[in-house]
Amino acid sequence: MQIKKIPNLDNFTGTILIPVFETTAKSIVPIEYHGVSVYSQVFYGKKDTHYLVEKYDCTHVFIGLGKEVDYKSLKTIFRRIAAKQKDVFGKNVAVVIPDSFNSNQVEAMFCGLLLGTYNLGHYKKAEAHPFLNAGFEMKYIAKTEFEETITKSLKIAKAQLETFALVDLPPNKVTPKYLANWASESGKKYGFDVTVFGKDKSTEIGLHSFLSVGKGSAQEPQFIIMEYKPANAKKHIGLVGKGITFDTGGLNIKTAGMVQMKCDMAGGAAVLGAMQLIADLQFPVQVTAIVPACENSVDALSFLPSDVIQSYAGHSIEIIDTDAEGRLILADGLAYLIKNYKPDTVLDLATLTGSVVGTLGYECAGLFTNNEALSQKLQESGNAIGERLWQLPLWDVYTPDIESEIADVKNYSGKPVAGAISAAKFLEFFTDKHTSWAHLDIAGVAFGDSEFAKTKHATAYGVHLVTNYIENL
Ligand code: BES
Ligand code: ZN
Ligand code: ZN
Repeated sequence: MQIKKIPNLDNFTGTILIPVFETTAKSIVPIEYHGVSVYSQVFYGKKDTHYLVEKYDCTHVFIGLGKEVDYKSLKTIFRRIAAKQKDVFGKNVAVVIPDSFNSNQVEAMFCGLLLGTYNLGHYKKAEAHPFLNAGFEMKYIAKTEFEETITKSLKIAKAQLETFALVDLPPNKVTPKYLANWASESGKKYGFDVTVFGKDKSTEIGLHSFLSVGKGSAQEPQFIIMEYKPANAKKHIGLVGKGITFDTGGLNIKTAGMVQMKCDMAGGAAVLGAMQLIADLQFPVQVTAIVPACENSVDALSFLPSDVIQSYAGHSIEIIDTDAEGRLILADGLAYLIKNYKPDTVLDLATLTGSVVGTLGYECAGLFTNNEALSQKLQESGNAIGERLWQLPLWDVYTPDIESEIADVKNYSGKPVAGAISAAKFLEFFTDKHTSWAHLDIAGVAFGDSEFAKTKHATAYGVHLVTNYIENL
């Protein structure tokens, strides 16, 4: 999609998108734009409403924003218009940017418009969205220049669209090798280095905890390492994302919700998407990211409940439940990253526990960290762009939950309480007491229901959050 500023609507024919702040239902002054009057009885800018008027060879789409509008709502409003009004979009579309809009609002608006082109029907015959046609150029009218903002918002949306696809595509397509290839291709295009360890190399260097999880799968595990090293970097951030391409539960096979478990690589996908976006935006920050990718399957070769396995960090692990596999691959991802790259700050993103969904539902991710400044910063970023976080404790009173009698640590407390916290305590054990580490449990927010599809689908939670955090370091 190309973008072009036009000075006015003289000689324009096509669809005009006109955002309107709420007046009142009883207003006697009609909303007016481009010679079109709309009376408050039919439309007065109420949030989540819109009104179409055909006049002067143009389709005017008046879009209600409410009295004030936050980033996420604005993005959703424009995603809805792009997704659900596509029949009114011909070759020409112009967007009116209200004079009061700041660059964040313009960013949310254009990001939403591009996200509205997403179609979950990857395997269905369908016509491309009009915005995706070659040569399509979106016009905009604004008092000031917003070119830089709009270019940035389209990059954000592009990374999010790619992340949607990674998560929504099925597990027979998105295998560990698919993720590794995706990383390599993105690295070539956007300028970061990618190294992938397969089974042999992972065995040689001792990623035993990671390898245990993939033992029962026909898909070879891939330990994906990405390095973005701009010349002017002052800080170094490390990222780790859970890349379980499908989680059957292993021998502790899932009895509920297995069909949704293609989403179990959403943390990895968020890290891949964020990596692409950070490189695309050329932020002056060094980023090293790891996505341990494998499939948790059922087979004679699968790891067993009660197995004791080794890990890269040198700690032995008693397996209580093979369905608590995410923490096993993250343990090696975190330990490998911290030992070999020593980043200033480490963030991990993972669809780690059902427990976090029970605690926080679908509105925010669970945040775990011992670093209050980091917690603040991450929450500020989340609030600014509408990917919220809520902090849960990492107190030492929870340590007994992961103490094993046979090994250094066990992968599950065996108790039906505080599951997200004991999982976070397990990860903490592999961070070598790093003083600036945060774990984001995104099981409730990465994949869910929305107005945009009938089945659960990806949200790309984390891509923008991590990028915004790094932008504001
Ligand atoms: N992948 C799941 C967590 C999950 C749940 C992701 C819902 C997305 C939506 C994870 O590997 C898992 O199975 N966790 C178990 C752990 C338990 C066996 C200790 C859980 O939370 O039930
Ligand atoms: Zn599991
Ligand atoms: Zn899992």
